[in-house]
Amino acid sequence: MPKEDDSTRSAVIPQDYYLENLQAWDERAPAHARAEGYGVTRFIDDPEYLSDVVTFDAPLLGDLTGVRGVHLQCHIGTDTLSLARLGAEMVGLDFSGESLAQASALSEQAGPDVEFIQSDVYAATDVLGTERFDLVFTGIGALCWLPDVRRWAQVAHDLLVPGGTLHIREGHPMLWAIDESMDGALVVDYPYFETPKPVTDEHDGSYLPVDTTFAAARSHSWNHGLAETVMAILNTGMELDILLEHDSCPWEALPGKMVAGPDGEWRLTEGRERLPLTYTLRAHRVD
Ligand SMILES: C[S@@+](CC[C@H](N)C(=O)[O-])C[C@H]1O[C@@H](n2cnc3c(N)ncnc32)[C@H](O)[C@@H]1O
Repeated sequence: MPKEDDSTRSAVIPQDYYLENLQAWDERAPAHARAEGYGVTRFIDDPEYLSDVVTFDAPLLGDLTGVRGVHLQCHIGTDTLSLARLGAEMVGLDFSGESLAQASALSEQAGPDVEFIQSDVYAATDVLGTERFDLVFTGIGALCWLPDVRRWAQVAHDLLVPGGTLHIREGHPMLWAIDESMDGALVVDYPYFETPKPVTDEHDGSYLPVDTTFAAARSHSWNHGLAETVMAILNTGMELDILLEHDSCPWEALPGKMVAGPDGEWRLTEGRERLPLTYTLRAHRVD
């Protein structure tokens, strides 16, 4: 697809995308902390409980004992805490103060201790100073809030020590391109490639069942094609270790077309071989 130069790119990104996204996340964070799907009470009741996301990732993450990690776009901290429960010394970073308030409260109540930092992900290296990490962890609805995957990849690279690992499990760009409101067939209706212009959505609910509706309804998102993401990472000098596409995702991404498994993952009820729903990517910084 044609590439836009940087001046075109910044001219068409709405100046208010950041603020409107921030308002949407701030308002949703307390409701997510109450939602069954995030399992906050399970973390409090069982000190060994892990999120479904981290349980899925654990075989690839390996032994995290003593690993210094940063979780980018950590939201209410359930995955961050799960990584800490596997032995990592974690920092969670997010731009939403309300998300981090929920994350800190959960860490205090349920343990272990996790440090939470409020920042735009693009400013992570400024905020974290000279600190570098063995593990950068992110995903499950994180990259789609960022207009430029190349800029994000550079931040992820710069946060790592040489030899350190980037671990992403993210919604597949083919999933983000599907119109979830269509009954019956899977309909590709949104961009697959990264576009300068965001997809702007008006939605007073959430991606999982919650007990309220939200005034901050408008949000802006961007897709990033799989090759765009992989090449953005490789162009920083990182080396690719693993790239997997999965037929499952940890939330009901296409309501009415999916069934939940005992592993907490959702799969298409029919013809699951048609569509990748998530991918896992692991890469390491060389020097
Ligand atoms: C769906 S959550 C992803 C986290 C995790 N997978 C989860 O579900 O808990 C998306 C998170 O990205 C954060 N976010 C969106 N844009 C951001 C930005 N520019 N900088 C930092 N955080 C951002 C939001 O505040 C939100 O907490």
